[in-house]
Amino acid sequence: MQASLRVLGIESTCDETAAAVVEADSDGRGRILSNAVLSQIAEHAAYGGVVPEIAARAHVDALDRLIRRALEEAGCGLKDIDAVAAAAGPGLIGGVMVGLTTGKAIALAANKPFVAVNHLEGHALTPRLTDGIDFPYLLLLVSGGHSQLVSVEGVGDYRRLGSTVDDALGEAFDKAAKLLGLPYPGGPKVELAAQKGDPERFDLPRPMAGRRNPDFSFSGLKTAVRQEAEKLAPLTVGDVSDLCASFQAAAVDVVVDRCRAALRLLADQPKPPTALVAAGGVAANGPIRRGLARLCLESGLKLALPPVGLCSDNGAMIAWAGLERFRLGWTDGMDFAARPRWPLDSRQDPRWHGKA
Ligand code: KG4
Ligand code: ZN
Repeated sequence: MQASLRVLGIESTCDETAAAVVEADSDGRGRILSNAVLSQIAEHAAYGGVVPEIAARAHVDALDRLIRRALEEAGCGLKDIDAVAAAAGPGLIGGVMVGLTTGKAIALAANKPFVAVNHLEGHALTPRLTDGIDFPYLLLLVSGGHSQLVSVEGVGDYRRLGSTVDDALGEAFDKAAKLLGLPYPGGPKVELAAQKGDPERFDLPRPMAGRRNPDFSFSGLKTAVRQEAEKLAPLTVGDVSDLCASFQAAAVDVVVDRCRAALRLLADQPKPPTALVAAGGVAANGPIRRGLARLCLESGLKLALPPVGLCSDNGAMIAWAGLERFRLGWTDGMDFAARPRWPLDSRQDPRWHGKA
């Protein structure tokens, strides 16, 4: 039986500054002791998207305070921590460097092991923290920067089955929102407006639906929303709600269809997945969550949807991924460099061998 472990995790790859402490008990079960997140949305909203320089500066201003708060709320000092983990990419290079350098400095000063975490691995492993899911499982990762279907086969062992050929799903939500006059970030605003709308008023495309390979494409859907909006201009509140509802209905159909295609690909594996898990900011979307629930019911799969606060970027996911790596004996040196691009699938990245 292993002793319990505690890891401090730091996240700064995009527009959330975050620090958290997670623990695994002697049976390996995870528990969040603290999870301090500061969103920079207000600082970026006026620009309609994340401004890298503003993000990096805001991380510098906030990170020390958040780390102190995470330790305090967890009721521990650095002496009680077994390792320090920081997201080392992928993401905006300035922000990544702030968190990575801070993590290394704390590890060095406190004489603790350091673990460099791929931000996407943080999303991928979160359902093991929240729901204790076993490998292998199918991961739907849908955020502002990524839309991927990944077979998660072990820690550091990820097989990307499909991804977007153009926009990420969160990006499509954000762009559709912008052209309908809704503020950034658009995803939650589209979901809210859609509640009052008619999802059948506009017959929008379902790009890639029915294809064998579980890839995504969203730019055509966004263009179709633009064309409908231009035809109707000036838009009434009702038009905006109906367009949001129709857009969201198309997004749900596409996501469910693409997950079904991925499950079909995995069905004849020696060890097919037993669960479908969703992660990334868009996994907070209610209709998408309900669509996945229907698919799991029909396929006899377990569904793991982390709570909304753990779908979007946070420190607990980095601390947990760091803990999973650390307990396998995988630590990193002080020379680990920030990686603005860093694919999750080691087979697609000759520089990363996942240490598996
Ligand atoms: O994972 P995340 O917090 O940040 C990264 O992109 O890494 O995801 C943010 C994205 C944004 O595009 C946002 O509009 C989208 O997730 N999002 C949503 C919802 N909440 C956040 N999209 C649809 N419905 C939501 N409820
Ligand atoms: Zn993310």
